[in-house]
Amino acid sequence: MIIDPYFSTVKGWYAFEYLYNELVKHINRGAHFVEIGAYLGRSSIHLAYLSQKYDKDLRIDVIDIWENFEDSPREINMAFRTSEDPNVLYKQFLTNVFKCKVAGQIHSMKLPSIEAAELYEDNSIDIVFIDANHTYPEVMKDLKAWYPKVKSIIAGDDYNWTGVKEAVDEFFVEDKKTFTQSKWIHFKDKSYQTKFGI
Ligand SMILES: C[S@@+](CC[C@H](N)C(=O)[O-])C[C@H]1O[C@@H](n2cnc3c(N)ncnc32)[C@H](O)[C@@H]1O
Repeated sequence: MIIDPYFSTVKGWYAFEYLYNELVKHINRGAHFVEIGAYLGRSSIHLAYLSQKYDKDLRIDVIDIWENFEDSPREINMAFRTSEDPNVLYKQFLTNVFKCKVAGQIHSMKLPSIEAAELYEDNSIDIVFIDANHTYPEVMKDLKAWYPKVKSIIAGDDYNWTGVKEAVDEFFVEDKKTFTQSKWIHFKDKSYQTKFGI
């Protein structure tokens, strides 16, 4: 896997390398992976590198609003306060993807999560990873919108956030796993469960 030196300049909240590594290592070649919540692309770009590393030729779709939202992190507020350009974050995402030389691997959609979900057929996506708005109502909307679209695995970040935990616990009453770095995962296709080191 050749990681371009520019990747070290890409800021973000990507603390799930272990999970992404396991997911890519064990998923079928050519699998369809949808990431909800990309910010400046740190996790998305690394996902593209992992696809190269394991020769998986993943189809990677990345969805984000790239706008301010309720409970936006300080960094996102700041970006909009210091720029007049409504596309300031999206342009930086595209720049990062391009400079990291993975533009050919990543398809981005600047849409609210639940609107993007409507574009997909039911049971059509191998993996959905959710790292978007972390409030209870929004996580619940994401789960309701994306769960039917997933064929194999749905997972997400920040299970240690109250809103995320409440929504995930309510949606998956028992059938989910949580693990290090506060991730949660649900195997819709149970045959994958034994393959993964998580
Ligand atoms: C925690 S950041 C994602 C971090 C990213 N995975 C990384 O590696 O740095 C959350 C992202 O979710 C996006 N977001 C918030 N609400 C959203 C929504 N309703 N639909 C799509 N994206 C949303 C935000 O714009 C933000 O970029």
